[in-house]
Amino acid sequence: MSSAERCVRVSLAERSYDILIEAGLLREVGARLRELGLAGKVAVVTNPVVAKLYAPAVLRSLKAAGYQTRMIVVPEGERAKSLRWVSAILDELVRARFERGSVLLALGGGVVGDLAGFAASIFVRGIPFVQVPTTLVSQVDSSVGGKTGVNHPLGKNLIGAFHQPRLVLIDPDTLGTLPARERVAGLAEVIKYGMIEDEKFFAYLERRMADLLKLESDAVIHAITRSCEIKASVVAEDERESDRRRVLNYGHTVGHALESLGRYRTLIHGEAVAIGMVQEAGLAGELGLCPPEVVIRQRELVRQAGLPDRLPPVRFTELWNTMQHDKKVAQGRLYCVLPERIGRVVIAPLERATVKQWFAQQGRQGGGTGRRAGAALPRRG
Ligand code: NAD
Ligand code: GLY
Repeated sequence: MSSAERCVRVSLAERSYDILIEAGLLREVGARLRELGLAGKVAVVTNPVVAKLYAPAVLRSLKAAGYQTRMIVVPEGERAKSLRWVSAILDELVRARFERGSVLLALGGGVVGDLAGFAASIFVRGIPFVQVPTTLVSQVDSSVGGKTGVNHPLGKNLIGAFHQPRLVLIDPDTLGTLPARERVAGLAEVIKYGMIEDEKFFAYLERRMADLLKLESDAVIHAITRSCEIKASVVAEDERESDRRRVLNYGHTVGHALESLGRYRTLIHGEAVAIGMVQEAGLAGELGLCPPEVVIRQRELVRQAGLPDRLPPVRFTELWNTMQHDKKVAQGRLYCVLPERIGRVVIAPLERATVKQWFAQQGRQGGGTGRRAGAALPRRG
């Protein structure tokens, strides 16, 4: 490990692994796989955008370390997260005679990571899998924790498996080519970690948000490292989300409902989570669970990051009904992650009447209540 390199360990007994964070790491992928003792062929799963930018460096490094490589290019965007593309990857692995010891390496954002991870989990009942995430969302969230999967036509992430990677290699330099909207969206998840677990980190984000937006290296590396540390500690306590891991869904009860109502075309995930966190903190304030200062500080930070904070025009009943599909519905009651203070959340039931009253207030303060979701926001490019 070089002096500049950060290492976060995900402690899961025999499934433990390291997350390495360092600028320029992309050029060392081959050497890092060798250090881990991974042998055999390596299939690099990526998409056309990322392939053009980063596959040459990764393939060069793998070949220099003596690996036989194969590149599998899947389409850009969420549509690649389908069983059809899992099947295409498996076909390619069979044709190229991949076997138990072969490696699947995901080079790209959360879409490529979720898809490749799922293919790795089922090919010959599971082969080693390495994550090389290139978006902020994937560097602070999706590459860590082993949730893999694809979408079903009737719902997002409905088909999947827990399959932990053997290694996560994060090169923050890749964020330099990421469209600004995607970078900002990733900041929502970073803010989420401060809110659920670490007030000091939240205060750091308040001080350094302008630097993060300018991609200042020390701020970016600290934000990624601290986010990964928090996610790693939560996952180590509750790998399969039976309890503690649910805190990672802060902002997601309202956020997922908004994404779904906009048919995943109006808000990108981080934007929906930002609105979700602001609304869920507002609800916690309404319930007397947290002081107004918490709601105000979080809203300010979300705005500072350039993230949206207001509900788009949705009808209350549509939002409420969509929220009922949340994984945290138990015995007919909707449970939501709500802040008590910055750095601490609880999981508490939400009553329809409370949400309705809060929602009506948002309408009076300029949020939408009357029209359909998706009418006001630009489509994802
Ligand atoms: P994404 O993978 O679609 O990437 C966003 C866009 O950035 C794409 O157009 C991609 O081609 C482009 N891109 C990627 N890296 C780039 C780079 N360095 N430079 C330029 N362009 C680049 O989106 P995402 O936000 O990374 O991930 C979203 C997906 O992750 C969703 O499917 C979501 O369900 C999933 N997710 C999974 C988990 C998990 O725990 N498994 C957690 C959060 C999100
Ligand atoms: N992104 C939420 C989780 O990994 O549990």
